[in-house]
Amino acid sequence: MFTLLGQREPHLIEQMDAEDADCKQLEQTYADFYTLNRLISQWNRVYINYIRPQAKEIQKEGKVFKVCDVGCGGGDIAFFIFKWLKKDGINAHIIGIDIDDRAIAWAKANRIVSAGTDYINKKKSVGLFFECISTTELIRREHKVDLVINNHVLHHIPFEEINSFLNECATLGTKVICNDLERSSLAYTLFSLALPLRSRSSFIYEDGRISLKKSFRKKELEELSLIGWRVHRLFPFRLLLIYEAKS
Ligand SMILES: C[S@@+](CC[C@H](N)C(=O)[O-])C[C@H]1O[C@@H](n2cnc3c(N)ncnc32)[C@H](O)[C@@H]1O
Repeated sequence: MFTLLGQREPHLIEQMDAEDADCKQLEQTYADFYTLNRLISQWNRVYINYIRPQAKEIQKEGKVFKVCDVGCGGGDIAFFIFKWLKKDGINAHIIGIDIDDRAIAWAKANRIVSAGTDYINKKKSVGLFFECISTTELIRREHKVDLVINNHVLHHIPFEEINSFLNECATLGTKVICNDLERSSLAYTLFSLALPLRSRSSFIYEDGRISLKKSFRKKELEELSLIGWRVHRLFPFRLLLIYEAKS
């Protein structure tokens, strides 16, 4: 059961990324992300420490807080943040984007409605939206946001494309927060013991194990980070890669 995850295994491919992935299992995987992310991703801590203070500053300036969740999958992180901002009385425009149209179709069907359509203002300046679009295309449209976030996306990006991906995120947003797993043999063993996940008709168990093998260690992320980026460890087993534009 104990597997040493010494070296990254970036060549592995998650089942959810296969073009011919079973639709039912893929949809169940998006649904399972919701529960898994609530348990392990710690966006509540990230929200309190990094997002809410920035959002309050923007609110003081009388502006709507603009966020882009890149690689949003089933849209749950964008949804959580939208709800927390709403609870804190902060107006936000959040767009979840993904290059996989199956993810966006699922997010549109399952997340916009639950965010409460009453809150989405007619001019679309406030609300939660989803679009199948790349960061490259958003930049071409001159879209700018206050904050770019992503969750469990870094380890999906081919190594040679990571720097340009990070550059695009930093072009889109004044601030960027990448939240991802930290590769760890202990985390892998503990996750492998979560047997109820194995019996689910989704890709969550096997893809989770693959993701842990593909994810970075803190030192590896520091080595590939560009100037202006810093890496924080979020106990246990998570890394934040953060960028803030100089004002
Ligand atoms: C493991 S899923 C994470 C989904 C979601 N962020 C979550 O945590 O539930 C990774 C997602 O990133 C998307 N993705 C991968 N590379 C991307 C890129 N360059 N731009 C946008 N989305 C990307 C994939 O299509 C997939 O939906």
